[in-house]
This record gives sequence, structure tokens and C-alpha cells, in this order.
Amino acid sequence: MKKDIISAPDLKEARKRSKENIDIIYSDLVIENQLFNYARNKKYLLKTFGCQANVRDGETIAGILENIGYVLTNEPQEADLIILNTCAVRENAEDRVFGEIGHLKGLKLKKKEAIYAICGCMVQQESITSKILSTYPHIDLIFGTHNIHRIPQLLFEVINERRIVVEVLSNQGNIIENLPSKRSDKLKAFVNIMYGCDKFCTYCIVPYTRGKQRSRLPQDIISEVEQLKKDGYIEVTLLGQNVNAYGKDLNLEIDFAKLLHLVSETHIPRIRFVTSHPWDFSQEMINAIKTLDNVMPFVHLPIQSGDDDILRKMGRRYTVEEYLTTYNKLRQIDKISITTDIIVGFPNESLEAFNNTLKIVDECAFDGAFTFIYSKREGTPAALLKDDISEEEKHRRLSLLIEKVNYYALLRNKTYLGEIVEVLVEGKSKRNEDILSGYSKQNKLVNFKGNINNIGKLVKVKINKAKSFTLQGEEIDE
Ligand code: 5AD
Ligand code: SF4
Repeated sequence: MKKDIISAPDLKEARKRSKENIDIIYSDLVIENQLFNYARNKKYLLKTFGCQANVRDGETIAGILENIGYVLTNEPQEADLIILNTCAVRENAEDRVFGEIGHLKGLKLKKKEAIYAICGCMVQQESITSKILSTYPHIDLIFGTHNIHRIPQLLFEVINERRIVVEVLSNQGNIIENLPSKRSDKLKAFVNIMYGCDKFCTYCIVPYTRGKQRSRLPQDIISEVEQLKKDGYIEVTLLGQNVNAYGKDLNLEIDFAKLLHLVSETHIPRIRFVTSHPWDFSQEMINAIKTLDNVMPFVHLPIQSGDDDILRKMGRRYTVEEYLTTYNKLRQIDKISITTDIIVGFPNESLEAFNNTLKIVDECAFDGAFTFIYSKREGTPAALLKDDISEEEKHRRLSLLIEKVNYYALLRNKTYLGEIVEVLVEGKSKRNEDILSGYSKQNKLVNFKGNINNIGKLVKVKINKAKSFTLQGEEIDE
């Protein structure tokens, strides 16, 4: 089949950071009549991998598709359009996607007219897009993270011209407002406050796949939160690769602490945010979490390593001591929960360096941690370092770390025994119909006996059992 490479990814281009202002485009989705006619009663299936930013993108993609006229299906066999919204953060995430792409080949044999598309972070890398083009001819469309709003035009081209279409932008980064969304939840919503990342930690592909840091205007964020509140949402999570840096790219008197105040004034009951970088966590931000009632006492503060030498090689811009200073200030907030991310097996991580990480876990006693084995990402500075630790040793370190992390998660959870916590009731527990479940202010999953009529509401639960990953209890009358 003919190919139309409108633009191909280029990691070198993606590394550049221009001083130019970014454009904010208030978009009107333009959909050709022919596409409307084509899509009527057609079905789409969307599978999203990766982080919350990708989940949020998935909601926009679904919103655009439903505007075109597609309806959702979960059955791959009946889908006229399948989109895989991919993640590039580690190799195993990419392997899973390649597995899925392989499956699509068989499906296409049975349903020749179906359209299969790959988007998201993975295809921002030229090696991946070339591999898809050369090895998987059943993929019809490839688009990246910067041009989701172009889906109608790109689909139109695939359908109309019956061509393989590739459009991945690398050096760009505008903000497109007003795109439709199909939210995946009715109580909790993700709200982007910024896109991209300029931190360039040496192991991380994200600054390349998602471009330069671009903050949304405060008024656009606030109107979104206000609308969500009107629609009955109880909780918003403000999203950014590094929310602390919010506003630094705008010529406005705004930073993340001020934004928290503004969002708080909408009186939406619960506000969360991810992710914070330990480097520029200001005192004003700590004060905002402490004093604003609807800003939840929960901070995800990735440390990545407990060793100064490794932190330097990771390009993290803080020492263990500086991390601890911020951590300890946050810990003074009443009933706060703090979680982290840790990578083991970074190139040249000595046993001593790894032991320093274990030591810091002892010292911090985190409420929880996501733990990862280092994954080499082609094009990043760390990929040039020799990956000199055996797979076996990496797995040994990971197991030791997980054991410690779980121990402290349980210890922290036990401090809630006998306490009363506020829970947003999301529904029945997945495992047991008679049990309700939801999250506490601290983002702890709580399973409890309670009144089914309170689904969607904030209730009080008395905790009577603590496990490493969940709390259990019983709803009480206020
Ligand atoms: N290898 C392993 N883990 C990684 N992360 C990011 N890049 C890599 C990589 N190359 C982890 C970091 C980050 C989280 C989202 O994923 O811990 O905080
Ligand atoms: Fe999210 Fe990073 Fe994965 Fe992209 S690569 S989906 S930004 S975790």
C-alpha cells in the first residue's frame, strides 16, 4: 500500500528547546461531511497504556472519535477502528504494545476494511515508527502526542486515499484547548495543567516524546474545573510531568502554589496533583497543601535513588539531604501520605549505592513506592553509559526493595487503625459485592461495609484492619 509520511519523528529535533512562545489554539474540531457519513454506526476500540497524561489523552481521543460518529466497543473483532495509545517509559511497556500489534495482524485478515492506528509516546521515536512501517504493514495510521486534534483529517486521508498515513511532530508543542473529551469516570477527573517536560533526567524519554514544557493558562484550567464541578465531579487531579514548575514558561504572575489557591476557590471538594519533582518544591506549595482544606494531604515525590552519586548521574539536581529536607517539611502536615518512585540497576549502581537507597527507604518509611528496574532508552544520555549490572542482580535488588517498601506501607497503614477517615465512595469492591470501596484523602484504598446509597458521596469510615495496599473498615454516621 502507498505510504504518506506527512512528518516522521526525530529525537534530535525533539531534544531542542526554543525560546519562542508557544501558541494556544482554541480549536473548533473540523470534520468533513464525508467522514461523518463514513463513521456513522462504525465502532472503535481504544487501548491506553502508561501514565495519567496518556489516560487523559485517551479521553480526548475518545471524545474526538465520538464527535465523528464512532461508537465504543470492547470487542476487537467488531471494531472498525482500533487505536493503541502507547507508552515509551520502559522497554517492557513497549514489548506489550508490540504483542498487541502482532495480534492485530490476525484480526485484519478477517476484517480487511478495519483501520488500525498507533499513537502516543512510543511512536515519537524514529526507531519504533520505522519498525512498525517495515514490519507491520497492517497498521494504517501513526500519529504522535502533539497532533491528537488532527485525528479527523488523518483518518479522512486513510479512508479516502486508502494509504498508510504517518504524522508525528517532534519540535512542536502548542496547546490545543476546547477539544472534546469522553471522561472515563463520573466522580474523579484528570485536568492537565501543563504538557511536556524540560527536566531531562538522563534516563527519561518523556522530554523527547512530549516536548517542551507548556503551561495552560490559569483561566482555562479554572473553567475546566468549574465545569467538572457543575457536572457533579467530586475530585480533580491536576496533571503535569512536574507540577512544581507550573507557570515558569508563562509571562504571568503565577506559580503552582498560586494555582492551587485558585483551584481551591472553585470549592471542588477534592484536589490532588501529580507529579512533583523534589527539586523546586516551594515553601508556598507546602503551605498551600497544609492550609487549603480541599487540597488533599497526599504527595507523590519521586526520589529515584538514595545515593548522591547516582542522583547526579541521573541528572536529578538534588542531593539525598535536600530531598530529606523537603520530605521532612511535608511530613509535618497532619496525616499526610507521601509516596515515591525508585529505580534500581541504573548503570554503575554499586552495591553500596543500592544499599544507600535501602537506607533512605528506612529513613523515610514511605506510604508506598513504585519500583522499577532501569530500562535503557535509546537517545537519552544514560543510554551511553555501560549497563553493567546483570539481569539477575537487578531482580535481586528489586525484590529486596519491594520487601522493604511493603513493610513500611503496612506500618504506615497501621497508624490508621481505630481512626476515622473520609472516603469518596466509588462503588462496590471488585472482589466482594457486599463491600464498598473508595479512596481516603491520603489516597489510601479503603474497602468497607457501608450504605450502597452513598456511592458517589463522601462518607466517614472507621478503620479496623490495615494491609500493605488497603485499609478496611465500617462506615459510621456522622
Ligand atoms: N527506566 C526505569 N524507570 C524509569 N522511569 C522513567 N524512566 C525510566 C527508565 N528509563 C520511572 C521513574 C519515573 C516513573 C514514571 O518511571 O521512576 O518517576
Ligand atoms: Fe506517560 Fe511517560 Fe509513558 Fe509517555 S512515556 S505515556 S509520558 S509514562
